[in-house]
Amino acid sequence: MFDLIIRNANLPDGRTGVDIAVEGTKIAAVEPQIGALARTEIDATGRLVTPPFVDPHFHMDATLSLGLPRMNVSGTLLEGISLWGELRPLLTKEALVERALRYCDLAVSQGLLFIRSHVDTSDPRLVTVEAMIEVREKVKPYIDLQLVAFPQDGYYRSENGVASLNRALDMGIDIVGGIPHFERTMDDGRASVEALCRIAADRGLPVDMHCDETDDPMSRHIEVLAAQTVRFGLQGRVAGSHLTSMHSMDNYYVSKLIPLMAEAKINVIPNPLINIMLQGRHDSYPKRRGLTRVRELMDAGLNVSFGHDCVMDPWYSMGSGDMLEVGHMAIHVAQMAGLEDKKKIFDAITVNSAKTMGLEGYGLEKGCNADFVILQAADPLEALRLKPTRLGVIRRGKVIARSMPRIAELSLDGRPELIDSGRDYVPLG
Ligand code: FE2
Repeated sequence: MFDLIIRNANLPDGRTGVDIAVEGTKIAAVEPQIGALARTEIDATGRLVTPPFVDPHFHMDATLSLGLPRMNVSGTLLEGISLWGELRPLLTKEALVERALRYCDLAVSQGLLFIRSHVDTSDPRLVTVEAMIEVREKVKPYIDLQLVAFPQDGYYRSENGVASLNRALDMGIDIVGGIPHFERTMDDGRASVEALCRIAADRGLPVDMHCDETDDPMSRHIEVLAAQTVRFGLQGRVAGSHLTSMHSMDNYYVSKLIPLMAEAKINVIPNPLINIMLQGRHDSYPKRRGLTRVRELMDAGLNVSFGHDCVMDPWYSMGSGDMLEVGHMAIHVAQMAGLEDKKKIFDAITVNSAKTMGLEGYGLEKGCNADFVILQAADPLEALRLKPTRLGVIRRGKVIARSMPRIAELSLDGRPELIDSGRDYVPLG
């Protein structure tokens, strides 16, 4: 007798009609038609059951603050940063915690159970750090939240940048961040990358930097990040977030850069929603898309995972905690619409992101944590197309969220009475 069996599931790898049995908090079996019974049984009715969505790049301290203290008029990254600077002195721990917890509620309902959040360390009060550490504890039963010490105003450019980042790490922040393209000079940016990688090596921590989030093709801090990663023996533990300047770089230079990044095993984190909104703002026409070179990086064997980055904050007024919306945008902006392309995009918001975050026990194999999401879709391709309802969200063997299927009733002569968008489709496997 198992604790839980999900029956008749389609899996992201194309298997159909599979049962998933759970004992306690772990997956005990993944097989067709398991004969044993369970205390709780859920019929997935041929829907997709996937490991939870994973967001490797978010800003939990800024989320849901849209309009405080005013809106971003130009819509640019730089106005977003200065707007956040206006809001920062007004932030209270209580309000930060309350907004973050509300976002986490939304994330759970979307089957998003693993989030890496950057936390701004620029304000020496470090109220953001205190608040996000509290949130990390509070959500632990349902969301794994990793925190990055992020010197938003610059590690060297901000008066308190160096000291505040180190204090944040002393307080228990998990990962070393940075923003080299925002330092005063290219040289300061290069020096910040070196100093931050040294801190990570000394403290035994991973690195995740906002890197080259600009349309300037000469913003080449990713090259330095890759080189310092190798120098300090941090291969596989370093992430480069955004990397939008690569979009505009000279092709010959990129032909040298990508192998260097592969050697350093850099985890690449593009953020397609925010960067299609923010980049190319100084262009008239044609306007650059500003997304990094997703296909080329994947083809070179780099681990590429997509982040949501922002929801309802000074930089981005949209967003819903739905990683399928992120993948949907990636398909368009990276022009990856082929069947195999879409499977890779789905991986980028699930297994690749789990790898970036170093998650243990993630997946749909025997022995993995019993965490999964049942979607109102047949397979990953349909999930990316429809951004469907999360019928059930299971964490460590317990149902923690459920939603009614989205079904429309039609009143049309001679036409069907009901439309279940996740049924009007033959899975492609
Ligand atoms: Fe970011």
